[in-house]
Amino acid sequence: MYRSHNCGELNASNINTEVTLAGWVQKSRDKGFMNWVDLRDRYGITQLIFDESRTDKTVFELAKTLGREFVIQVKGTVIEREAKNKNIPTGEIEILVSELTILNTALTPPFTIEDETDGGEDIRMKYRYLDIRRNPVKNSLLFRHKVAMEVRKYLSDLDFCEIETPYLIKSTPEGARDFVVPSRMNEGQFYALPQSPQTFKQLLMVGGMDKYFQIVKCFRDEDLRADRQPEFTQIDCEMAFVEQEDILNIFEGLTRHLLKEIKGIEVDKFPKITYDYAMKTYGNDKPDIRFGMKFGELNEFAQHKEFPVFNSAELVVGIAVPGAGNYTRKEIDGLIDWVKRPQVGASGMVYVKCNEDGTYKSSVDKFYDNDDLANWAKATEANPGDMIFVLSGPANKTRAQLSALRMELATRLGLRNPEEFAPLWVVDFPLLELDEESGRYHAMHHPFTSPKPEDMALLETEPGKVRANAYDMVLNGNEIGGGSIRIHDKATQQLMFKYLGFTEEEAKAQFGFLMDAFQFGAPPHGGLAFGLDRLVAILGGQETIRDFIAFPKNNSGRDVMIDAPAAIDDAQLKELRIKVDIA
Ligand code: AMO
Repeated sequence: MYRSHNCGELNASNINTEVTLAGWVQKSRDKGFMNWVDLRDRYGITQLIFDESRTDKTVFELAKTLGREFVIQVKGTVIEREAKNKNIPTGEIEILVSELTILNTALTPPFTIEDETDGGEDIRMKYRYLDIRRNPVKNSLLFRHKVAMEVRKYLSDLDFCEIETPYLIKSTPEGARDFVVPSRMNEGQFYALPQSPQTFKQLLMVGGMDKYFQIVKCFRDEDLRADRQPEFTQIDCEMAFVEQEDILNIFEGLTRHLLKEIKGIEVDKFPKITYDYAMKTYGNDKPDIRFGMKFGELNEFAQHKEFPVFNSAELVVGIAVPGAGNYTRKEIDGLIDWVKRPQVGASGMVYVKCNEDGTYKSSVDKFYDNDDLANWAKATEANPGDMIFVLSGPANKTRAQLSALRMELATRLGLRNPEEFAPLWVVDFPLLELDEESGRYHAMHHPFTSPKPEDMALLETEPGKVRANAYDMVLNGNEIGGGSIRIHDKATQQLMFKYLGFTEEEAKAQFGFLMDAFQFGAPPHGGLAFGLDRLVAILGGQETIRDFIAFPKNNSGRDVMIDAPAAIDDAQLKELRIKVDIA
């Protein structure tokens, strides 16, 4: 037996017990005649004491050779500590060691294994197994496990059944590129790794397995960001004989359960807003509603004077920034420069100070009088002491710019408290999205999403206006889940592929299996998928999902620890009949 206890469980009630512990040397403090060693494992830290007057000489000498991260086993007696440490559960005791075995030595780690380490991101990723020994990373992985357990428990209690679907499949379009895997046995042919189990879960519904879920890896070859990894995990769900409202209720319930169990927070019924409302009010389809600063559209109040910039704009829109009325000229100029950066792309910004006495001072006083500005204040819900910032230009672009400013100001004003949770549903997404480059429509969610029946007629005439039976769950400005009611009849699915620019042959070749299945009694069905990594990161008060993944990829999609991706040898290429031609 390697150990009788772990390093986190001994306390005053164990005094005088003989114990065996094993773990890593966190640090040692050698005072000559007395040597203290902190022994660490996953569960905590226990202090060991080697005392010249009480410890066997060979053991005492051996203890002096211990280096950081050596793996050791000790036997000894639990004794009361003289200098107690109230900050850790084992802080009242220490182990007077009688036997010491070095199980393994260790090189000096390239960064300190402390909560606040001196290691930068790159080095920590290269030695991720050392990084995982640090509390913040270890705790994030434990936290992820807890969330996953609660999800499994909640869904299983509601009769959901976890079913695995294959990884070696054919393309499932979710808007990214596929990762492909060559097939040795089928010359010149490739599997695609699933961007999601979408088609399989729909086939499970045809198979009668109502209420499916799976905590499942998905693979997408797309540009990476803080909230995106090339392989990530979904909580993927599907139900038969449901309408949108049934799905929203179940998964709102799941999210509420997680917030309560994991964070101890009770939230009210989630607000439900339409995509159009979200875009008009927040300039964004995943609004952070922990704070206000809702958009006020000002065309009506700004386009009747001689200010040419506003008069020629499709949209004039502003936000009131609480308590920012006292910003200095320098601060305002700084923000104007910020919105003019290429990443945001505004050409300029108008501001209005809302004075405490009810008057206004603006950068466009030449064109607008106090009554005009009072209307702006009303539209943006500004109070005395606030500052209104106004942007103008093409509607979509201007909304995106003001949304970026809204988020930046909220961050600067400390309005994005990671311990506050504001979930909501965004519904009625457009079915199709115009790709400006190709001039073609593609599915905004995915091609299996059902249009709203009342909008079907618009498909021929104004496809961009057709709304989908699709919904996203948004938490603190992040899309944590999305789904839809699906098409479940062949004719509509065929029509959909036609509108998406597939020829009949292409549709048949790629998705014939699904349309075939629809002819064998497919039930009405729908579902959604949560991004587990995102959900866990946000519940954990962060937005970078990498910290909650044991072995993540870097921003170039590389695993720098195992050095992947890598070239494969000629024999393997030959076997796969693949020629590599890198110019
Ligand atoms: P969707 O593409 O919206 O829907 O994905 C569902 C959720 O997965 C998360 N997500 C990601 N997380 C990390 N890295 C990524 N690269 C990444 N891409 C997506 C997001 C997102 O909300 N089959 C549909 C679901 C359905 O219709 O039922 C789907 O995959 O949190």
